[in-house]
Amino acid sequence: MILYFSGTGNSKWVASLLAKKLNDKSYDICAIDDEIDLTQEKQIGFVFPVYAWNVPEVMLKYVRRMKKQDVFTFAICTCGADCGKALKRLSKLYHLDSSYSVVMPNNYLIASKIEDLSVITKKIADAKNEIDTIASEITARKKVYRVHEGSLASLKSSIINWGFNKFARSTKPFHVNKQLCNQCGKCASMCPSKTIELIDGYPTWHDQCYMCLRCFNHCPKNAIQYGKNTENKKRYCLDEYL
Ligand SMILES: Cc1cc2nc3c(=O)[nH]c(=O)nc-3n(C[C@H](O)[C@H](O)[C@H](O)COP(=O)(O)O)c2cc1C
Repeated sequence: MILYFSGTGNSKWVASLLAKKLNDKSYDICAIDDEIDLTQEKQIGFVFPVYAWNVPEVMLKYVRRMKKQDVFTFAICTCGADCGKALKRLSKLYHLDSSYSVVMPNNYLIASKIEDLSVITKKIADAKNEIDTIASEITARKKVYRVHEGSLASLKSSIINWGFNKFARSTKPFHVNKQLCNQCGKCASMCPSKTIELIDGYPTWHDQCYMCLRCFNHCPKNAIQYGKNTENKKRYCLDEYL
């Protein structure tokens, strides 16, 4: 059983591909209402994106609530570059036999611009190879810690992550360009934190969200903006590159 959280599809893709290779199932934790029965599972995996070198709050909350099982357990963090100590942090909540990072295209496009096509295609090709390796190591029950922690990992995963949660998760800068918005409502229906409400057909954001950027990246009209500098930025959607 692979439990995943994914904002813009990278982690979902990793979880699905790995589940296929392991002949296992993958489930989106945001789509599970009741606690899932894991007592018959032979292995449990977690897949999620790294947020500011740490585990997204939604994943932490889910794992904290889980009943622990005595089976082979692994976690994979997807990242644009590096993950810091995210997997060490998760391993304090749930025993992990193996921990991995898989580098994928960066979706944090409110603070940076989209990577070049060559970079994105290479990351996806390398990720496929890495998933093959991970699948064989999990099958062999090998205990592995292969994580791109990056430089200053402890600092980034502690103080900088604290700063991100305190100052960089405000929904206030989200707004919609009404000239571009076609009022399709996709943003509200796909938001995993259910924080978007349509008022007169246009999205408005409540105070709390996961900062997954699904609304921002997947709006079919690129109508959703964050702050002042995102109007002309290309968005990221994994499906365009598969
Ligand atoms: C709020 C936020 C914070 C992020 N922080 C990091 C980071 O600390 N290090 C990194 O390499 N990538 C970072 N990223 C990039 C994502 O982790 C990466 O693109 C991931 O594969 C996205 O997965 P998803 O499509 O499943 O949401 C961040 C993305 C977001 C939205």
